[in-house]
Amino acid sequence: MHTNQSRIMNTQTSFFDDASKDSSAKADDKIIAQMRALIEVLKRHNHAYYVMDAPTISDGEYDGLRRELMTLEEQHPDLIQPDSPINTVGGEPLPFFTQVAHEVPMLSLGNVFNADDLSGFLRRANERLGVVIDEYEMELKLDGLAVSLKYQYGQFIQAVTRGDGQVGEDITHNVRTIRNLPLTLAGCEQIKRLEIRGEVLMPKAGFEKLNRESTARGEKTFANPRNAAAGSLRQLNAAIAAARPLAFFGYSVNDGLPDGITTQSGAMQWLGQLGFETAPFEIAKSLDEIQAFYAHIIKTRSQLPFEIDGLVIKVNDLGLQARLGFLSREPRWATAYKFPAETVPTRLIDVEWQVGRTGTLTPVGRLEPITVGGVTVSNVTLHNFGEVERLGVMIGDMVNVHRAGDVIPKVSGVIGELRPTDAKPILLPKACPVCQSPISLPEGEALARCTGGLYCAAQQQEALIHFVSRRAMDIDGLGSQWLIKFFEMGLVRTVADIYKLHKQAEHLITLEGMGDKSVTKMLSAIETSKQTTLPRFIFALGIRGVGESTALSLAQQFGDLQPIIDADLQALQAVPDIGEVTAQSIYDFFRASHNIEVVQALIEAGVHWQAMDTPDKSSLPLAGETWVVTGTLGSMGRDEAKDKLIALGAKVAGSVSAKTTRLLAGEKAGSKLEKAQKLGVAVVLEDEFLALLTSYDQA
Ligand code: IVH
Repeated sequence: MHTNQSRIMNTQTSFFDDASKDSSAKADDKIIAQMRALIEVLKRHNHAYYVMDAPTISDGEYDGLRRELMTLEEQHPDLIQPDSPINTVGGEPLPFFTQVAHEVPMLSLGNVFNADDLSGFLRRANERLGVVIDEYEMELKLDGLAVSLKYQYGQFIQAVTRGDGQVGEDITHNVRTIRNLPLTLAGCEQIKRLEIRGEVLMPKAGFEKLNRESTARGEKTFANPRNAAAGSLRQLNAAIAAARPLAFFGYSVNDGLPDGITTQSGAMQWLGQLGFETAPFEIAKSLDEIQAFYAHIIKTRSQLPFEIDGLVIKVNDLGLQARLGFLSREPRWATAYKFPAETVPTRLIDVEWQVGRTGTLTPVGRLEPITVGGVTVSNVTLHNFGEVERLGVMIGDMVNVHRAGDVIPKVSGVIGELRPTDAKPILLPKACPVCQSPISLPEGEALARCTGGLYCAAQQQEALIHFVSRRAMDIDGLGSQWLIKFFEMGLVRTVADIYKLHKQAEHLITLEGMGDKSVTKMLSAIETSKQTTLPRFIFALGIRGVGESTALSLAQQFGDLQPIIDADLQALQAVPDIGEVTAQSIYDFFRASHNIEVVQALIEAGVHWQAMDTPDKSSLPLAGETWVVTGTLGSMGRDEAKDKLIALGAKVAGSVSAKTTRLLAGEKAGSKLEKAQKLGVAVVLEDEFLALLTSYDQA
């Protein structure tokens, strides 16, 4: 009864339900039809844009259609189509990335750079199989990021980055928004598990547009399309990736390939039928045919809509691939045939000399702007005067520019035949371009320096910026732009003037772009920075050769600033990781009266730190001794010997003098040994040294 009654009840309610559904179903159908139409148009456009590189509608129209679909999805979230290119589902950013282990590791490819290497690779594959491989498949090597995609019964379910090859990160939320990615695969309803691997990249046009927009908004730009793609996939918020012009190109089916498909090219065709873009591919029957395709692509690659960095040569027969297998982390059935780094000729219009924090003069070449590897380059560093001489480059020359390590542009050479008759030599300026102090370029050195020290405005500015930086005094509220402005206005000359800025508060408030609030914030950040640590303070002084770790060593060795100021060269050299040059530079720094004045002013302004504990060395066995190490030791490097001596309480100096207690002499000891003998300094040979270490448990 109960059952029946409830059935009647149910029938009744369902009757009403059906009736109301009937009218709303019609409305839904209409919405769905609208959504489907928009999705199809967007899909067609994606294909035209990404694959054919021939957009059929303008970006504005495209965005309009996307927005229309997005609005419909917002109003009817229950009707969102599974293959919608818009990701409005789960719009909340993820708290973190989930790690996912790859069922089959994602390995990398070996490299070849020329026909000889390639021929060696092919020969080894033939020999191993004992047959002549008669078909290779060549694919463009896309310059993006490898991802693995999983589909279940034809529905996209997961995307994972390559990671370390064993474990990657789940980026499903971002990949779902990629416009050319099919989210439903027609005809795959029966395939339980399908894994497809491929590359996510940003086409050149989209990359340039993205950077233009970022520039217009005053935001940071990406160095190249690959970084832009990587940055987009590394977002926890899918909305950011969705707004980026990413594309997916498949290049392998790792699980779920139908039985009848026995070649890589067949797998690629199948991917195409499923609606994937694939890495463009061709078949070759011989090394000559590979060479011809390679040469053709090198010539035409700049016209491709995306960046590539080579070809991938794969054995086409999947059965042979399986027999060849892997050698450690690389397949024996495929290799990357890399392109030489793209070099582009352009004219060197001029050279300007920039002065760095420690006075180094860097020649910066101004170029007629060119695009190298997808990035516009108009300046190039020539590093130092030695490099200018090595290249033999002159102003007016045509030079070849490439991007080293894919980011920093470099001049690889001069096109001598194209040198104009009015080419001008690049001369080291006689005086600093900023402060007119003399330039020094010691014999045989590549680095020229302005001798102006903190008298030089360029060095002053750089010193100020260094002083406030995060790892130094960490004055967060005082950005470098304001600092330079204050410098130019004459409000701040030396770092000590930063602590006098509070006296100018009234004046600062009146500056454009600066208000009550920002002045308060800035002054309080300056105030807070007064309490610092000794290593930070030493680092902040910007002494040449004293980076963070040296600053820490100095602080640990001497405990406070005054002993460092007072230290002689030998004491400085006895600090672990300080050599002759740095010891001299620290010594000179504290002998210059203007530096001492600045340090005093800082302390008077209230900058303070806690003294540090110094190791008590007086009870150590070699306390009070000064050693010098020379020659080649068989059992350890000189630095190691130096550390062991320091651990035993000795000072280690770089040169022999009357103060030297003992000289540790290895093989081929030269002038230091002679000098020690002349001065009557005790000479210790390696065997005795080792015996000494053993006796003190230091071996
Ligand atoms: S096949 C066993 N094909 O190159 C590895 N890789 O250097 C099989 N890549 O991590 C990879 N285009 O990110 C293959 N057409 C292509 C490729 C390609 C780009 C990348 C991929 C891989 C890297 C290896």
